[in-house]
Amino acid sequence: MNFIYKTIFLILISYIFFTCTRNQGGEMRIDKQLFGKTIEGASVYLFTLTNRNGAMAQITNYGAIVVSLSMPDRNGNMGDVVLGYDNLADYIKDKAYFGAIVGRYGNRIAQGKFKLNGVEYTLATNDGENHLHGGVKGFNKVVWNAEEVKNDSSVGVKLTYLSKDGEEGYPGNLYVTVIYTLTNENALRIDYTATTDKPTVVNLTHHSYFNLAGAGVGDILDDVLMINADKFTPVVKGLIPTGELRDVAGTPIDFRTPTVIGARIDQADNQLALGPGYDHNWVLNDWDGSLRLAVTLFDPKSERFMEVFTTEPGMQFYSGNFLDGSITGKAGKIYKFRSALCLEADHFPDSPNQPNFPSVVLRPGETYTQTTIYKFSVH
Ligand code: GLA
Repeated sequence: MNFIYKTIFLILISYIFFTCTRNQGGEMRIDKQLFGKTIEGASVYLFTLTNRNGAMAQITNYGAIVVSLSMPDRNGNMGDVVLGYDNLADYIKDKAYFGAIVGRYGNRIAQGKFKLNGVEYTLATNDGENHLHGGVKGFNKVVWNAEEVKNDSSVGVKLTYLSKDGEEGYPGNLYVTVIYTLTNENALRIDYTATTDKPTVVNLTHHSYFNLAGAGVGDILDDVLMINADKFTPVVKGLIPTGELRDVAGTPIDFRTPTVIGARIDQADNQLALGPGYDHNWVLNDWDGSLRLAVTLFDPKSERFMEVFTTEPGMQFYSGNFLDGSITGKAGKIYKFRSALCLEADHFPDSPNQPNFPSVVLRPGETYTQTTIYKFSVH
């Protein structure tokens, strides 16, 4: 008899324990819906990743774009912290690279030309005389193959794309994989790999426009930014680097200690005048290819805090200087001057023409890899 009571008691305790732990968080989910059709008639999907805390990332396989990213504020209220559009047609027209994966080359290549093994390549030019963010039809304008990925601690989407030999002027067939993962620690992780069948250059990055107070809510000038970099790459007109690695010390480019973005953005400074504002590449300290903390960003209004970890040597911090109120985004919100910022982890601009910058050359048999994590919490 005693044995029966003990057994019933144990079953009851196990049941209560199981139910409690199961209900501790919400369910991790991936939902897939049709987002629309491209002009060529290809179906494009929207994947909604939800983690146990109810944080959410919406990703489309058009341009490998993060359409929305909902993270809790200090009161636990979810808010979408990236700019974007409600529909595919607006992404097709977009010229701002909202939320996209940028490739084959993040940022600029001077005059759209570079030499590799003695051969000169000419790329599409789409930013005055320079090549920007992969050219006229970069990775932000193509349809990627998509596959859902789920494990015990995260939900994600694996995106693949074959960039054909000669696309936008680049040599070699480039096989690209990007895996977006939303973890239960409220981090959006991006793992990139690429291989080629001919020597080529590759420099992928992610182009979300963050506003930690919420997309379309004020500007980012009160945000507090830290960039772990003693040096940056100064630019000339057209935002092409001179090749110099210059100390940030004593300049408004110095974010080694957390500093309010708006505090110095309008200072008379020849580098800021070129932006106008921040649109520069910071040379991250102690680069060795391992994943480490590069940036922190804090919004005092929502008390959201974002940490950026990356394996990359550079960080392009762009303070939304080209936003001018002419774009209407999600939920009819107007995106005004400096109403969001980009933190693009990658190699330095114009590296193919700068022998002293870390190399962006990829050869057959090698694998390009990069990982960047945007992790959210409240402070
Ligand atoms: C990057 C560049 C900027 C601008 C934006 C897109 O951040 O550095 O100059 O081209 O992308 O508008």
